[in-house]
Amino acid sequence: VTFDWRNVGPGRLARSLRFRLTFIYVVFFAAILALVGGIFRQTLEGILDQQSRDVLEEEWAAVNGYLRWVNNRVEWFYDRNDTDEAAIVTRLQRVYMLTSDTGHILEVSPTYRTLGLEEPSEIREVMRHDKPVFRMRQDPAGNSYMLRVGPIADRGHRFFMAIGRPIDGDQRLLAAITRKYYTWLPLMILASALLGWLMAGRALYPVNEVAHAAERISSRNLNVQIPSRRSGDELDNLIGSFNRMIERLAAAFSQMRQFSTDVSHELRTPITAIRGQLEVALFTGENVEQYREAIENSLQDIERLSQIVKSLLLLSQAESGQLALQLAPLDFAEVVADIVDQYQIPAEGAGVTLAATVPERCEIQGDRVQLERMLYNLISNAVKFTPPGGSVAVKLEPAHQPPASVLLSVADTGRGIPPDHLPHIFDRFYRVPSAGKAPDPASGLGLGLSFVAWIVKAHGGHIDVSSEVAKGTRFTVTLPAGTTLGLRSGAIQTSSAGSVG
Ligand SMILES: Nc1ncnc2c1ncn2[C@@H]1O[C@H](COP(=O)(O)OP(=O)(O)O)[C@@H](O)[C@H]1O
Ligand SMILES: [Mg+2]
Repeated sequence: VTFDWRNVGPGRLARSLRFRLTFIYVVFFAAILALVGGIFRQTLEGILDQQSRDVLEEEWAAVNGYLRWVNNRVEWFYDRNDTDEAAIVTRLQRVYMLTSDTGHILEVSPTYRTLGLEEPSEIREVMRHDKPVFRMRQDPAGNSYMLRVGPIADRGHRFFMAIGRPIDGDQRLLAAITRKYYTWLPLMILASALLGWLMAGRALYPVNEVAHAAERISSRNLNVQIPSRRSGDELDNLIGSFNRMIERLAAAFSQMRQFSTDVSHELRTPITAIRGQLEVALFTGENVEQYREAIENSLQDIERLSQIVKSLLLLSQAESGQLALQLAPLDFAEVVADIVDQYQIPAEGAGVTLAATVPERCEIQGDRVQLERMLYNLISNAVKFTPPGGSVAVKLEPAHQPPASVLLSVADTGRGIPPDHLPHIFDRFYRVPSAGKAPDPASGLGLGLSFVAWIVKAHGGHIDVSSEVAKGTRFTVTLPAGTTLGLRSGAIQTSSAGSVG
């Protein structure tokens, strides 16, 4: 036995369904959480940005309202005695620069100086577009500002103006939210992993149950049944199939056991008889007559022994596909009539009337030996299970519907087969137990109908059985009429091949 590392440790865990389910779930969940976080952050950022722009827009309009071009210079035009207004203007002037349209600085606030955007070239660039634009700037201390830069005009004079406001608060808010979210993210993923692991374990629990039950099963212990959870889901389906499989196995095993018992019993009876006869002859035999009798009796028993062994061997060859049919065109009517003739004496002995109805000729493609075996089995069963005074009718006729085929029926007036046994009679070794009675020592091995079923199937036909308890049984064999000659229709003849009461 080679040692396989995949059966232990992390490798095994990674291949477990539970792990894979949890893993997929967690990866999916984490991706969704990250995506939601990203979208949320972007939306918030957009809202905050828009807010800042709106505020700057308002401030721009306010500044525009206060500035005047008087005496070739710019002036702030407001009521200096109004403290409120003064405060507003002071606030507007916090981050602020005003230049001529060539970039010559007219006014600039100290905070603005630290932000840059004083290059005349850059200013001219903005002026050329004639539209206000927004710029982000950072002072040396790392604080962020949003600037609105663009042209303004008063009485034909164009200026360049830039106003700004700090947006650190927004950024800090965004950073704080993001940090919080992504700190919680691993925790949420961990929680989901735990939940997924528990859920997958719960869902897969019955699978492990099935596996454990399967471990417990051996040929001695085939009555293990996994209790259904009655939820009607896929796992209940699995459990149901599994239980049914065990039932079938149990039936097969008990049949095999029964068969071994039967075989040993069947073989032991003739062996014991032979031994007894030979011992008696050996110790008490006095003349040739006695020896001869013992030998003859023994030979009979040996004959039965070899019959049993032969049919077992044949059946196992047939069922494993090693036995091929020797197909040849033959007259099935003749074969049926022959076998019925041969069976007249045993039937007479059993007090059963045996009659046959066969057409004049009935050409089919078949294996004579096997067809005889089939007929022999059906007729011997019918005679065996029919009490004295009953009758057995064998009938061969062409089927009327295409494809061309022949119908053979063997009907008796015997004890019948109870409906719950009917589906099993073709099974190997199956014998209908007769209620209350001890097993008939002369009864067969229960192999006859297995043979019949195999022979019919091998000829491309099928067999049906209908039965009523205490009334009788009818076996109907349909075989293809597979020869170029076909069936001579209209040649049906009633030829009672003898009837003995
Ligand atoms: N014609 C019949 N009438 C009643 N029972 C039958 C008939 N043919 C077969 N059976 C039932 O089917 C069983 C199987 O038949 P078979 O395979 O020929 O076994 P065997 O003849 O060795 O008992 C028989 O044991 C019997 O119980
Ligand atoms: Mg039989």
